[in-house]
Amino acid sequence: MDYHEDSARGAWGSKIAFIFAAAGSAIGLGNIWRYPMMVGLNGGAIFVFTNILAVIFIGFTVMLAEFAIGRHTRKNPVGAYNAIKPGTHWKLSGYLNVAVGIGILSFYGVIAGWAVGYFFKAITGAFRRDLSWFDSEAIFKNFTADPLVVFVCFSVILVLTVFIISKGIKGGIEKWSKILMPALFILIIFLAIRALTLPGAGRGLAFYLNPDFSKFNGTVLFFAVAQAFFSLSVGNGAMMTYASYLSKKDNLVSSAGWVCFFDTLVAILAGIIIFPTLFTSPEIVPGEFVADTGLMFQVFPMVLSKMPGGYVFGVMFFTLLLVAVLTSTLSLLEVPTAFLVDEKKWTRRKAAIVLGALAFIIGIPAALSNGGVKLFTKWGVMIKMDFIFISLGMTIGALLISVFLAYAWGVKNALKEISFGNSRFKLKALWIFNIKYLAPVVIVILLIIIINIF
Ligand code: TRP
Repeated sequence: MDYHEDSARGAWGSKIAFIFAAAGSAIGLGNIWRYPMMVGLNGGAIFVFTNILAVIFIGFTVMLAEFAIGRHTRKNPVGAYNAIKPGTHWKLSGYLNVAVGIGILSFYGVIAGWAVGYFFKAITGAFRRDLSWFDSEAIFKNFTADPLVVFVCFSVILVLTVFIISKGIKGGIEKWSKILMPALFILIIFLAIRALTLPGAGRGLAFYLNPDFSKFNGTVLFFAVAQAFFSLSVGNGAMMTYASYLSKKDNLVSSAGWVCFFDTLVAILAGIIIFPTLFTSPEIVPGEFVADTGLMFQVFPMVLSKMPGGYVFGVMFFTLLLVAVLTSTLSLLEVPTAFLVDEKKWTRRKAAIVLGALAFIIGIPAALSNGGVKLFTKWGVMIKMDFIFISLGMTIGALLISVFLAYAWGVKNALKEISFGNSRFKLKALWIFNIKYLAPVVIVILLIIIINIF
């Protein structure tokens, strides 16, 4: 069998192409924007530590489950559940994935739009030399409170996403991811080195990397696991859908390993840029600053304005951020698009356009919730949508995927699928334990904790 065996649906050009596309889906705002925010909100290093364990033991486990289900069925989530357990309620899990995909896209797209706006700010030299934390905050607040600008930027993201998705699998996503993901990587390492050499970087690093174990609690655990799912694009059928375009020759285990590794590395580096930079500002006191949605957009302009050649790096950084973001919005739109194409026989183009419009409408309150409309601002629409779709939607999605694989499809069948392209699965026993017991039990406990807290 070769890579083009199912070319009517589309297929990846190679294993490396798949890893880059999947890493492209994984690496995005979750790493650069949400991860530092979660670290800030959940006690710093203790979150970092817990999140890494969550990636290794739970994120990887469920990602491999998605890969196996996706490649086995070669379908979108609804189709996949239906193919393995036809005529059962399992397909509702697929519908949950489709709905959550659209839900996340609708507010993720707004923030992705901010990246568009900041790209133009960088080009026009809006980050003049030596911005203080407060200047940077004011620029951000004014920007996000302007409805016109925010809607234009949000639309730019959705139009680009719809355009590329309507072109199919190989043409757009693959080419972009292969060239631009490594470039993002090099740049982020460079910026991390710069941040580490800022005067006073140590204070930030201590907050970020020196865990205070007494701060560990159920909330930290919950957000660490939810963040692992979000950052890895796991729990929502996105990896399932991407894997549905894979060939039987590819090694699912090592692919999942690489995607988890790259994604975590980028998140850690993003924190290494953000925290030292943040704490070089004397106004910031560890434990007292508020990590809100603007963290990244306030810190980056600040570090850029303080470094030699900051203009050029600013333009490069926001260009690459845009690309990272786009490769992620693509995968969010791909899930419902694949559903309409496979199940309802829509054309890709029609599906992408209709879904893009839907995401725009659902995203309106989020777009206006950062100063645009007082009521939405007061409700904190963005944080609430984040909670509903990411913290709850994806966590429940991940639970259903694990339970489905372990108890409905069966670990034996999944292992047979995994064995194609990988004859020796070294961590087999561990994975079986994790997918059958650890992942479902931990997720159920988390859901109980969270229902009690909120
Ligand atoms: N993982 C992406 C990020 O870190 C976000 C994302 C893209 C996503 N596609 C997804 C999250 C699908 C869940 C499901 O930015």
